[in-house]
Amino acid sequence: MARSSQESEWETPFTFSFLRQNPSSAVTEKTVSYSEKPVPTLPPCTEVIFTEVAPSVKYATEPVNLNEGITLLKGRVSTSDVFGASNSDLIPGKYEGGLKLWECSLDLIKSLALEIQNGQLSLEEKKVLEIGCGHGLPGIFTYLKGAATVHFQDFNAEVLQCLTIPNVKANLSSTPSNQCTSSGIDRDAYLTTDVRFFSGDWSEVHNLLSVARDAELFGTRDSSLKQESSGGYDIILMAETVYSLSSLQKLYNLIKMCLCWPNGLVYLAAKKHYFGVGGGTRQFRSIVDHDGVLVASLVMEVADGASNVREVWKFSFK
Ligand SMILES: C[S@@+](CC[C@H](N)C(=O)[O-])C[C@H]1O[C@@H](n2cnc3c(N)ncnc32)[C@H](O)[C@@H]1O
Repeated sequence: MARSSQESEWETPFTFSFLRQNPSSAVTEKTVSYSEKPVPTLPPCTEVIFTEVAPSVKYATEPVNLNEGITLLKGRVSTSDVFGASNSDLIPGKYEGGLKLWECSLDLIKSLALEIQNGQLSLEEKKVLEIGCGHGLPGIFTYLKGAATVHFQDFNAEVLQCLTIPNVKANLSSTPSNQCTSSGIDRDAYLTTDVRFFSGDWSEVHNLLSVARDAELFGTRDSSLKQESSGGYDIILMAETVYSLSSLQKLYNLIKMCLCWPNGLVYLAAKKHYFGVGGGTRQFRSIVDHDGVLVASLVMEVADGASNVREVWKFSFK
């Protein structure tokens, strides 16, 4: 995929820089492996209300052109304005990279568009969860394509307040009603869409989300135990969420609790391998394959030589 000026903040080789607190609590920069990071205190899980934007943080929009007739708006805010730290991809336990737009999120939108075009996917009236949303552009795309529910989750309430919510507002107000959905439903109808924003760690945030079942029931062969319920999501989206080996199991557990049986789908866009942090699509797939409940299929592979190999995988129930 060619890089444009809009992509200037995107990370190509996924080498995170870390900031961590030293004992005198001054912030120092250091490149560390994930295993070295101190055990952080998790931020509380919260629901951030649509009207809760942070007025003091400067937010400017710019277009993201996806070359397939899709243009979305994204904001730009400064990490130092929001977290008091500059040029950092991660601050363990404090910030997980949500203020940047990572390139796989655009691969994910293109894949969804392709799946719709090929008749493999319909978003109309679907319940969607975007995990690790950051800018939230894939979730916004599903919203504009007629999803009935779109829930956004990020580690940080600040990311939701300063970026995700303003992005949702910017895209909604810039989209003419006749371009809003493939069926041309009036945009005003979408003001009633169930759009909500949740922050918190993957090990705890299920307490706020629409949960389909207990994780243990996910793999049961007794279909009466995992019968359809009103909880859970039809579609779970994730971009660039599988970089950290230590988080993969809790991420999978969250999916297990939130995915609607039997027709739920998960779309994951990520790099095959994240240098320096050890995760990647292979590592995530091995957890999924070992559990044996979901089956994976490759939707898109981008090996342009300009960056690490990127993939979009779809997971469905066996
Ligand atoms: C690299 S950013 C990707 C952001 C966005 N999806 C994109 O592609 O532009 C990783 C995202 O995963 C989320 N994340 C990472 N670790 C997490 C954890 N342990 N609990 C909750 N969210 C986490 C963060 O919210 C962060 O926004």
